[in-house]
Amino acid sequence: MDQTLQPQLASELLAKQELIRATKGFMPPDEGAALAAALKGCDVSMDLPAVEIGSYTGLSTIYLGTAAQLQGRLLLSVDHHHGSQENQAGWEYHDPSLIDPVSGKMDTLYLFRRAMELAGLDDTVIIVVANSQSFAATFCTEIGFLFIDGGHGHDQAYSDYDSWVPKLAESGVLAIHDVFADPSLGGQAPYHLYQRSLGEGFQEIGAQGSLRVMRKGSA
Ligand SMILES: C[S@@+](CC[C@H](N)C(=O)[O-])C[C@H]1O[C@@H](n2cnc3c(N)ncnc32)[C@H](O)[C@@H]1O
Repeated sequence: MDQTLQPQLASELLAKQELIRATKGFMPPDEGAALAAALKGCDVSMDLPAVEIGSYTGLSTIYLGTAAQLQGRLLLSVDHHHGSQENQAGWEYHDPSLIDPVSGKMDTLYLFRRAMELAGLDDTVIIVVANSQSFAATFCTEIGFLFIDGGHGHDQAYSDYDSWVPKLAESGVLAIHDVFADPSLGGQAPYHLYQRSLGEGFQEIGAQGSLRVMRKGSA
């Protein structure tokens, strides 16, 4: 991947550094910058929205939304905001401060909404509070860019792929997070999705840390 961020994107992200540092999430700065650059470089029609699966509190969305805003593309960020299995109590990535004391469930929605407002992305990011598969079943528009970072278990990750990848336009871009070839570094479902996409004719166009970026078709 070309690591030279387009100057305007770089300066927009620099202006958001404080917010990025203050936002809870799982997107290291180098991977976030690469993710933003991948979307900014996606030249599929701006009429086709970008879709993110897995908003959490908005860290990756700040990167993607900044790129989408510069492009004039809409970004739908999809999350039920109750956390993945690995975010629940007793699991490795649990944050007790994210439990709603009334419902007793995890709730990242208010932090996500606040992050979008602070990032000035309200005109670009459509907040979709939904189960990824249920929403996909009702969503009939082609998309230009897809970022998969939802539930990392096998069934959930495969279901996100099966639900959303067919909606990608030809030459559309697919990004997958937490791709680890070595099982000692992380779960294998995202790695298997990455391999599957290559087997289905996607061309790898970028990699940064555990982020992989592929383009649909040979164009
Ligand atoms: C790894 S976190 C996303 C991290 C985020 N992209 C970041 O950069 O910090 C995964 C998110 O996927 C959401 N999620 C898991 N399964 C989902 C499903 N079936 N539908 C919608 N959201 C889901 C969880 O609620 C969680 O917020």
